[in-house]
Amino acid sequence: MDEDDHRPLTLSEELEASGVSRRRFLAWTARITAVLALPPALAPQIAQAVTTKAKPTIVWLNFQDCTGDTESFLRSRSPSVDELILELANVDYQETIMAPSGAQAEKSLTDAVAKGGHLVVVEGSIPRGASGTYCVIGGKTAIQRLQEAAKGAAAVITVGTCAAYGGLPAAAPNPTDAVGVSDIISGVPLINLPGCPVNADNITATLVHYLTFNALPATDDKGRPLFAYGARIHDNCPRRGHFDAGEFALAYGDDGHKNGWCLYKLGCKGPSTWHNCPTRQWNDRTNWPIGVGAPCVGCSEPAFWDTMTPISARVPNLSGVGLQGNIDQIGLALVGVAAAGATVHGIAKVVTHQRHFALTPAGPGAATVQATATQPEEPAAAATTEDPTTEGEQK
Ligand code: SF4
Ligand code: F3S
Repeated sequence: MDEDDHRPLTLSEELEASGVSRRRFLAWTARITAVLALPPALAPQIAQAVTTKAKPTIVWLNFQDCTGDTESFLRSRSPSVDELILELANVDYQETIMAPSGAQAEKSLTDAVAKGGHLVVVEGSIPRGASGTYCVIGGKTAIQRLQEAAKGAAAVITVGTCAAYGGLPAAAPNPTDAVGVSDIISGVPLINLPGCPVNADNITATLVHYLTFNALPATDDKGRPLFAYGARIHDNCPRRGHFDAGEFALAYGDDGHKNGWCLYKLGCKGPSTWHNCPTRQWNDRTNWPIGVGAPCVGCSEPAFWDTMTPISARVPNLSGVGLQGNIDQIGLALVGVAAAGATVHGIAKVVTHQRHFALTPAGPGAATVQATATQPEEPAAAATTEDPTTEGEQK
């Protein structure tokens, strides 16, 4: 609020007051445009939208989770969440950071939901076992709270693999009968932002997309936005050249590991995982798992605790691929599985360098918007039938 004329500050003025200069804001806008895989020419439109459009109301629900997604979001910078992200929206309910507690907090939630047209962000899985009583907050089960909060919502956004697909709580034997949001909610636009935890860039970009186009981004068959989950880790991995050359680390700390060779033989699941980790990275773009020499464990894939383990196993526990099989067969099967995955996910289109985003309208008056984005080219090795794991192995 401006003390002189008592009018509400515009977002531009709020940013300025928070120490975020116009130049820094435009740099942030350009970065988010890149995260969304949209043409740079759309950056001014995005800047215009986030500074002029009415802020959406967000209620953020936590269920069976470790709060890692909240932590991931709050640890984002450039600008920090305090400086900018919370200015993009009215976050009326978020248990970790909100000031009210008890009945006052519950009132914040019910008041926000009563207005309708809000966004529901969900973190954590929802237990169905024992009539939902494994997770009770404010006297209501997670199922009840989610169903009530989703009523009249413009969209539901899951953050983290637990909310999207059940995650760790749903791993076998799944004692609480934990599930993801899509098993509880229907009839409301839903988008999944899996990861363990979610990458804050992908939350921000989804919100910015919603603000700019009044629509959720286009998704794959697992409800994940293509801008963030449209390419495999393996396709953008800086160690890919070593995979193709048959150069593998065989043990932590060996020469191959020290020299940044491929981590496939240490259990890397990058060939079966769809996420923008190589390009967005983590901790303010400091690094990412493979960057520090740790194999990808496939944390953005449904049921990865059951299908991608043991973590040190060389290949995912995919149908038709035995963990104890001969490495030649596994390598050939892996390439086959990768090619099949590419077909399933429409990656054949990537070869053309173009992907047309058909946006999912969300909320009242939502528009259908078409945008064209450039995606990375599918490396030739993904289509080969040779097994790169059998050549040039580090001795
Ligand atoms: Fe990178 Fe893993 Fe693929 Fe090797 S197997 S190139 S480390 S994603
Ligand atoms: Fe997860 Fe693999 Fe990225 S483990 S954080 S999807 S590199």
